[in-house]
Formats: sequence, structure tokens, C-alpha cells
Amino acid sequence: MTPGARLQAAAEVLDRIAAGTPAEQALLGWSRGARYAGSKDRAAVRDHVFDVLRRWRSTAAQGGGESGRARLIGLLRQQQVAPDSLFTGDGHAPAALTAEEQAGGRLPEGAEARDLPDWIDALLTDSLGEEAAAAAEALRERAPVFLRVNGLRGDLAAAQDALAGEGIETRTHPLASGALEVTEGARRIAQSQAFAEGLVELQDVASQAVVEALPLAPGLRVLDYCAGGGGKALAMAARTGGEVAAHDADPRRMSDLPARAKRAGARIQAVATPKGVYDLVLCDVPCSGSGAWRRAPEGKWRLTPERLDELTKVQAGILDIAARLVTPGGLLAYATCSMLAVENAAQIEAFLARHPGWTLERQRQFLPGDGGDGFFSAQLRRPA
Ligand SMILES: C[S@@+](CC[C@H](N)C(=O)[O-])C[C@H]1O[C@@H](n2cnc3c(N)ncnc32)[C@H](O)[C@@H]1O
Repeated sequence: MTPGARLQAAAEVLDRIAAGTPAEQALLGWSRGARYAGSKDRAAVRDHVFDVLRRWRSTAAQGGGESGRARLIGLLRQQQVAPDSLFTGDGHAPAALTAEEQAGGRLPEGAEARDLPDWIDALLTDSLGEEAAAAAEALRERAPVFLRVNGLRGDLAAAQDALAGEGIETRTHPLASGALEVTEGARRIAQSQAFAEGLVELQDVASQAVVEALPLAPGLRVLDYCAGGGGKALAMAARTGGEVAAHDADPRRMSDLPARAKRAGARIQAVATPKGVYDLVLCDVPCSGSGAWRRAPEGKWRLTPERLDELTKVQAGILDIAARLVTPGGLLAYATCSMLAVENAAQIEAFLARHPGWTLERQRQFLPGDGGDGFFSAQLRRPA
């Protein structure tokens, strides 16, 4: 496909998304009907679509309209690429710009320029103060790819060597000692030997930092109460060297976990109904995902105040149930990939008010400016 044809395909996918189809489904629909498209074409179309989703409002302003075509014109203008050079009407390229399109478009302002819905823009400012604008700006860019080196299979140097041998270049990152940032060859990871043998896992660096901050030691009884795909359960098992119990309200979300654990050489025990008590219970709760909107930008536009309210209630409920599973003197760890105070510090304050005697030992808000996703973590100690 020519660069112009890729833009035309992206415009069509964006129109489907604007009409309500989830982005992944819209991309899949296009790709099924596009047998002529090679893997590089598919990746390029996907990149255009996600670049626009991160900048949904500002690209519409600069492109002078709400269609996929207009937003792509806006995106090219932001990238300092003359739309005329690609909207040529040749072959499968989009039609040349009309006089109206040539003259259209304006600079975005305020929340529109920060590419946030107004209500989230206000909430982010309430939550982060002066750091809000930089955080919003970071969410407009692509996210770096990070790997976690699995200490059960090898060390950092061994992983870097193995990856370099397969054309994947990496560098270490100050946020987590076991993290590698991929600087070249990210698309080769899934097919690499290092990945197949469990030497590395895909995991954001802030996610890794949250686990590294936990006081994990061999012999500790650990429960991952919201295990999902098991990224953090695997990271915790690598640190303790022992078994980690994994639970999720929706056990289907843990379906890949046995295969991932086998690959990683980790011991994970799935538990349908946790009983008894643990030394450490991690609650990596469902959240707005606002810290990860670089990766999943649709969330910015689909989140509603009602859904956020619902999520904060679920989060509080999980904390209350999980608190009962912590042994006296043990630790309850809370994590979200959110930058909104209602899901983070306010949630912890409310927990402490509901549970006298518990103490807050650490709390940290990670921002995309730190390198990884926006993340929050808190460690709460149960009275002995
Ligand atoms: C943020 S994801 C977990 C991601 C995972 N820890 C990881 O690192 O890959 C949150 C998970 O919480 C689960 N969940 C939602 N409500 C829950 C509840 N009431 N109790 C336990 N798990 C719940 C969801 O099914 C989802 O898998």
C-alpha cells in the first residue's frame, strides 16, 4: 500500500470508531477485508488510527472537521507534513483537499489542545495541580515499550545480550531495576526466543516499580486479589521465588496465566475464593485507566462521570474485602493505573477513615513524565 492508501484506510477505520465501533474491532474489520495489506501496512494504519485517537479533539480543530479524513489532515498539520503531499487522489490515496479544507482548521485551545474531555481536564487539574498539563501532554504521545527481565530465568545483562542477538535493542531505566526500555525492534519481541523462553515479559516500567517497592521476601504468603492476566503476580513470584496465589472476580481473565507461569518458571496458584490470611495482599484494582491512555487512548473519550463513580465504589468494596484477607501486622497494597485523585489518594483516605488502626506506610503517584504509565500505589499496614 502507498502512504496515501494507508491514510485512506485509517480515515475509514476512524469513521467507524466515531460511529461507536471499538477501535480494535474497527481495525480488525478493515484488516479482514484487506488481504492486499502486508504486516507493515497494517502496523502503519494502526499507528495512524491510534495517533488520532490520542489527539481526537485537537486534530478535529486543526483539520477543520469531525470526519476521519479531517482528523488525519489535522494530524498531518501537527506533524508539519503538508496534507497535499499525501492527499493526492492518485490510486487509492485520499482525494485532493478541497479549497474549503485548504482554508479550514484552527489552533486548538484549552482542554481541546490538551486532548481531554472538559470534565476530565478539570479533574486532572484538581488531582495533579501544576503537573496536570505535562501529564495530559504526555498522553498525546506514543508510549515506549518496556520489558521486565524475569530473574527466575536470567539477569539483566543476559536478557540484553539475548535480545540484541535477535535485533532488539534495549536500555535500562531508572524507575525499576529489572526494566528494559526497547529502543529498536519492538515488533520482534513477541516472536523472539527471549520472550518464548520466559526471560522477558512485556510490562510497563511503572507497573514494575510498584512491585519492586513491595517488601517481598522468600516465604511470604502473597495473594494477588485482582490478578487479571497476571503481570504483577508473575513479577511478585519472581521476587519471592515461591508460590503466589492469584484471584480475579472474572476467572476467564486469568486463562493465559498457567501458560505464562510455565514459560516464566513461576509458581502461581489460582484461587477461586481466597480463604484464610496472607502476609501481603495486592489489589491492582479496575480503574479509569487514565494513566495508560497513551496505550489505550479510546478510554479518554469513552469514560463517563457515572462510570468513574461506579469504579470508585468497586475499588472501595475490593479494599474492604481484601483487608479481611490480610494477617494482623500484614500489608495491603493498592494500585491503579490512574492519575485521578478520586481513585487514588482520596480512596486511601476513605479506607483509613473506615478502618481505624490501619496505617499508611508509603504512597506514590507515578506520572508519564517519569517514563512509564501514570500509576498510583499505596501500602497499608494492618494493626498487629
Ligand atoms: C487492572 S486489572 C488487573 C491487572 C493485573 N494485575 C496485571 O498486572 O496484569 C483489574 C482486574 O480486577 C478484576 N476485578 C474487577 N472487580 C473485581 C472484584 N470485585 N474482585 C476481584 N477482582 C476484580 C478485573 O476482572 C480485572 O482483571
